[in-house]
Amino acid sequence: MRMINDSLSVAILGGSGFVGSELCAQLTAAGYSVRVLTRHPQKCRHLKVLPSLTILPLAKYQAKTIRQHASGCHALINLIGILNEKGNNGKQFHDIHVGITREALNACEQASIPRLLQMSALNADADGPSYYLSSKGKAENYIKTFTDESINYTIFRPSVIFGENDSFLNRFADLLKIVPGFMPLACPNARFAPVFVGDVVKRMVQSIDDKSTFNQAYDLCGPHTYTLKELVQYTANICGYKRVIIGLPDFLSRLQASIFEYIPGKPFSKDNYKSLQIDSVCEQCEPCPTSLQAIAPTYLSRSAGANFSYNPE
Ligand SMILES: NC(=O)c1ccc[n+]([C@@H]2O[C@H](COP(=O)([O-])OP(=O)(O)OC[C@H]3O[C@@H](n4cnc5c(N)ncnc54)[C@H](OP(=O)(O)O)[C@@H]3O)[C@@H](O)[C@H]2O)c1
Repeated sequence: MRMINDSLSVAILGGSGFVGSELCAQLTAAGYSVRVLTRHPQKCRHLKVLPSLTILPLAKYQAKTIRQHASGCHALINLIGILNEKGNNGKQFHDIHVGITREALNACEQASIPRLLQMSALNADADGPSYYLSSKGKAENYIKTFTDESINYTIFRPSVIFGENDSFLNRFADLLKIVPGFMPLACPNARFAPVFVGDVVKRMVQSIDDKSTFNQAYDLCGPHTYTLKELVQYTANICGYKRVIIGLPDFLSRLQASIFEYIPGKPFSKDNYKSLQIDSVCEQCEPCPTSLQAIAPTYLSRSAGANFSYNPE
């Protein structure tokens, strides 16, 4: 396996994160040499055990520094993304999703990197209802209309991604642990098709040299769809927490978002509320195979610690 791709190097923006860590593991296992460009090398300590992986610190994601670090690479992968911004006018979403994509593409052009993989999100659309979805959509449009035709892109548009260290089920597990008896839940009927991080990353790695994926965008969903309330109840059951999940009506969901966006760390925001107005489910694509039930109990049980009493029967 290693010998096939041994001469190929891939540079990753956002390699320090949840998806990035799995991507680094799968790329190095497939024989790629990997360069992780990051503002936070200290967040990458867990990656140091991987063979043929280099961590390259940078202060900012700018074309010049990306080009310097990624020069000679066969592909650049952009995983940079945020779910909430510091302000609430869309500027940081735009700067990070559209701005860094522009820097990445310029770096590809200047360093003659022929391949760009871009992580977007399901429902990303320049006219989408939230700053998150519209800025992701504008970044996609920027790539699709970029004039340098020597750069072949592939765009990935997943629903919510689960796996060890995810920030979705783990966050609900943490919340459920501290709430007393019941949990008020905004947007309980929003629907998701959670997709396993291992499946998402496998599709990315396979696409690098697969010409049929060049200049295409792919929606990625798991095999089953759930409402948000079902997912939170499932998390509580797996962790062994006896909690009643109380779905909030729309006006209280909006009120919760308006209040929670002022809590440090923004556990829920008006922009999140707007993103949840569209179901995050796939209409037509072939689903990724791994189910939530096959994976989530393994890591949620660990985070639940002593409370764990999961019985698959
Ligand atoms: N997780 C999901 O459920 C999900 C679903 C759909 C789409 N996505 C997309 O998938 C990508 C990866 O998601 P993830 O869950 O792995 O995210 P993550 O763990 O938060 O990692 C994202 C990376 O973005 C970089 N980043 C964060 N804030 C930044 C900022 N203010 N300025 C510049 N860079 C910043 C960080 O890189 P450094 O700190 O190393 O510089 C970080 O490693 C994102 O684009 C996300 O929108 C995720």
